[in-house]
Amino acid sequence: MDMSGTFEKRLHKHMDELKWLYIELYNNYDMLAELIDEMRSFYEERDIDLKKRDELRERDGGKWYKSNDMLGMMLYIDNFAGNINGVSKKIDYIEKANVNYVHLMPFLDTTEGKSDGGYAVSDFRKVRKDLGTMEDLEKFTKLCHKKNINVCMDYVMNHTSEDHEWARRARTGDGEYMSRYYFVNNQEIINEYDRTVPEVFPTTAPGNFTFIPEIDHYVMTTFYPYQWDLNYKNPRVFNEMMYNFLYLANKGIDIMRIDAVPYIWKELGTTCRNLLQVHTIVRMMRMICEIVCPGVILLGEVVMEPEKVVPYFGYTGKPECHMLYNVTTMASTWNSIATRDIRLLKKQLDIVAGLPKEYIFLNYLRCHDDIGWGLDYETLGRYGMEQISHKRYLNDFFLGYAGGSNSRGELYNDDPVTMDARFCGTTASMCGIERALEEQNPWMLREGINMDLMLHAYMFMQSGIPVLYSGDEIGQLNDNDYKNDVHKAGDSRYIHRGKFDWDKAKNIDKKGTVEELLFDGLLKLEKIRKTEKAFVSQADMWTVDTGDNGCLCIGRYYAGDKIMGLFNFTEHEVTAWNIENDGEYRDLLTGKIVDTRKITLSPYGFYLLKKRDCA
Ligand code: GLC
Repeated sequence: MDMSGTFEKRLHKHMDELKWLYIELYNNYDMLAELIDEMRSFYEERDIDLKKRDELRERDGGKWYKSNDMLGMMLYIDNFAGNINGVSKKIDYIEKANVNYVHLMPFLDTTEGKSDGGYAVSDFRKVRKDLGTMEDLEKFTKLCHKKNINVCMDYVMNHTSEDHEWARRARTGDGEYMSRYYFVNNQEIINEYDRTVPEVFPTTAPGNFTFIPEIDHYVMTTFYPYQWDLNYKNPRVFNEMMYNFLYLANKGIDIMRIDAVPYIWKELGTTCRNLLQVHTIVRMMRMICEIVCPGVILLGEVVMEPEKVVPYFGYTGKPECHMLYNVTTMASTWNSIATRDIRLLKKQLDIVAGLPKEYIFLNYLRCHDDIGWGLDYETLGRYGMEQISHKRYLNDFFLGYAGGSNSRGELYNDDPVTMDARFCGTTASMCGIERALEEQNPWMLREGINMDLMLHAYMFMQSGIPVLYSGDEIGQLNDNDYKNDVHKAGDSRYIHRGKFDWDKAKNIDKKGTVEELLFDGLLKLEKIRKTEKAFVSQADMWTVDTGDNGCLCIGRYYAGDKIMGLFNFTEHEVTAWNIENDGEYRDLLTGKIVDTRKITLSPYGFYLLKKRDCA
């Protein structure tokens, strides 16, 4: 029972708007009443410690995720430590890496060989057998909370696996379940969709529909053919998916990554992305969280250009996601490495710096997916770079074929029709560390390590939360083993989803090894980020022209503290002229005083300069 009346108070606060949106979308009062009843039950079932956590977080107004000591790491449970209990046993390593937010990559039940890395869920209430059980998950989140670590998981809401119970029943022709997906038996309609809906996986899974012979119908499958798109026009789908969400939230999850969220509403004649109803649904999810489990926050996965990403934060007073990925900045970062030109990146950083400070971005260099070259080609055009040939250059560069590059990796969804391809590889391999080790070239190795550290230092300088991709902290290389696995060979994203190498991780204590240089280098940067107040999310952030297109300068200011970061994106020495003339600056890494009228940076070098008269 809700003796404190907390649930009712929160419900009261949001009820008007929730009802308005629900009825506008579904016009179904019975289903709304059912939703509220279920929400109440989930609240009642919620663990007392989680409720306390909710209340603390409600009171601190989101400070917990906005502070500058958040550092994330995303990892695959099996690659990292076999199963959930294995990850629990390795918690010391996670702590040693300074990480206080662990993203466990998809771990719910899925069918081997038809799992899309776990993004084809066959049961939202069951952990994949080889990874453990729901009890293990609960134990893990409890352990993390004791250690002040937050846990993030994926909520794959756009689709289910074809082996999900609903899909199985739909396959028998049961109308109740068919109505939970998008079934069509008319080729004309499919053609009409295909005219306006772009393909996500043009070569690995072309088309947007899959034929289901048992019932002589096609089902919409935006991603792989075994990932059936859910029909959110059906309120039963929305309600049930919210119950699954709350069930998982009650296992102690702090951050829900809502996967592929722009795709959840479909309309004939549109691109079936970012439709208004998507925002209604995300807004309702936000309110449902705030009523049942306000300690849980939403991380939206919107892999699109900035003007499409930002609306997912919602409006003042009507927020949607708490956090979003800074995807264009990530792609622009690698573009700067390939072109030795930071102009586009600088422009992108200025756009982000101009957004309200409550917008929290997740910054990253690499994640489990490919890098899509969704850059601002209008601006690049002004610098003389044309879209198709530039994309080709970027891919050739990172394949190690062009532009004096030492990078290694593979193309992803190389589409002969659009001439478009994306790129896969680990940070270390893209920085040239793999090639340097293979060729036993110490000079190339040093350059690769410097590039890798500079990129992390620059990432830490951005506003928001930095997230490491597990293995990057020790320079994990591309892993070609996936090519021997029939279920993975067709998907080059597995090249950067290799097993964590615990033997190499032992080297983090051995001076001068790649692992030690990177791990220790990152620790130093994390310490600066944690202790310097200019790194809080509310700080001002801006960029400065250095007079050299290869050298990026970012400033941060908060409550009297000022830090200027300088980053050399080239293999040459560069000089930054007159970045400041307001006093003396000291480098936070070496402690040396630096003359800001003329600063010379070594190849892929960087400085974090703090104004001297700061507190
Ligand atoms: C997201 C995931 C990606 C997956 C897709 C389909 O984009 O990051 O790995 O393939 O959703 O679920």
